[in-house]
Amino acid sequence: MTKLKGKKILLGITGSIAAYKSAVLARLLIKEGAQVQVLMTPAAKAFITPLTLSTLTRRPAFSEVSSEESWHNHVELGLWADAMLIAPATATTLSKLAHGLADNIIVAAYLSARCPVFFAPAMDLDMWAHPATQENVRRLLSYGNHLIPVGEGELASGLVGPGRMAEPEEIASYLSKYWQQEQSLAGRKVLLTAGPTYEAIDPVRFIGNRSSGKMGVALADAAAKRGADVTLIMGPSRLSPQHPGVKTIRVETADQMFQAATRFFPDADISILAAAVADYRPKEASAEKIKKKSEGLTLELVKNPDIAASLGKTKKAGQLLVGFALETHNETANALEKLEKKNFDCIVLNSLQDAGAGFNVDTNKISILHKNNKIRNFELKSKAAVAEDILDEVETLLRQL
Ligand code: CTP
Repeated sequence: MTKLKGKKILLGITGSIAAYKSAVLARLLIKEGAQVQVLMTPAAKAFITPLTLSTLTRRPAFSEVSSEESWHNHVELGLWADAMLIAPATATTLSKLAHGLADNIIVAAYLSARCPVFFAPAMDLDMWAHPATQENVRRLLSYGNHLIPVGEGELASGLVGPGRMAEPEEIASYLSKYWQQEQSLAGRKVLLTAGPTYEAIDPVRFIGNRSSGKMGVALADAAAKRGADVTLIMGPSRLSPQHPGVKTIRVETADQMFQAATRFFPDADISILAAAVADYRPKEASAEKIKKKSEGLTLELVKNPDIAASLGKTKKAGQLLVGFALETHNETANALEKLEKKNFDCIVLNSLQDAGAGFNVDTNKISILHKNNKIRNFELKSKAAVAEDILDEVETLLRQL
């Protein structure tokens, strides 16, 4: 777990019986070489004392934004940290975080934090299962925060089920794994297609689709963060990657995307085709705006190049090609057919049947299908977290080449 060495961690502790485990967690993080600054809600003090925590962390544990003597600068704390970890996170805290209700030092620091945020919920099983809690979790995931899954077992109420805070060892290894991913793609060239394509009907209108480009941008950022040299070929989208290392090439049509992808593909170690490419385009785009003269209008469409199939044909040993399939029915069969036909190494399937998956939402629920018919199903996660899962899978395939 050496990945925690030197990391600055803001540990937010809220009012749950699981708070007693936070002392063990703080000790574990410190033992692994992290610096830990504890923030507590007033309710947490009923379960564990600031004295215990400040003794373990060798720093005062803050439970108020200000005290009589000083103001604890939550903005500075938020900027100081390499990660913020809220463990245990109660139902109340999840709700406050999800809605930005900054009435305590943890939520204030959370809103100011630029670092990754991890939260480990702890509550009774019915509170955990309640749609209000689940909605708050979904919101937090959509902000790019990381959920450390709850455990199952006997709860403080005596009931048995999901809702227990993950064990301190699991939480520490979750953080460690997060940092382990850093630079794991150094020296690798990654090619990505993302977003929709627009096919002109006339100077004003086009045929397009509802793709926002979010999944592709999340993949570009995640791959760049792992040290890859990333080229993102992006159809019309309002979005841009955050990572300064990503080279973005903006295109409009399927044909332009095809040209750009064909140019970069020979050098790419990993190509991930997340774009929703229009399958057809108007045979001829009118040079002038089409006027509303007749009762009906028939557009003649011709097929666009299939970028994936074309790259699949020229793929060399040592290159990985990953496709996407967004399906509405017969999902697995359709995705497996595409995997085969386009010579993908694996295909990411998302179904429009799943709530929280698909276009223009911040979350996604995917399965990854492999050539040997092996299928891995994932939970609903933020697109940022889904991007990490996809890259983990790609790295596994890369090691097997
Ligand atoms: N794809 C592509 N070029 C196209 C069409 C699709 O590169 N002209 C890629 C997509 O980026 C995706 C995969 O192929 O990775 C599957 O896309 P999808 O639209 O689901 O497949 P199609 O072959 O277009 O099949 P259909 O529309 O009939 O479902």
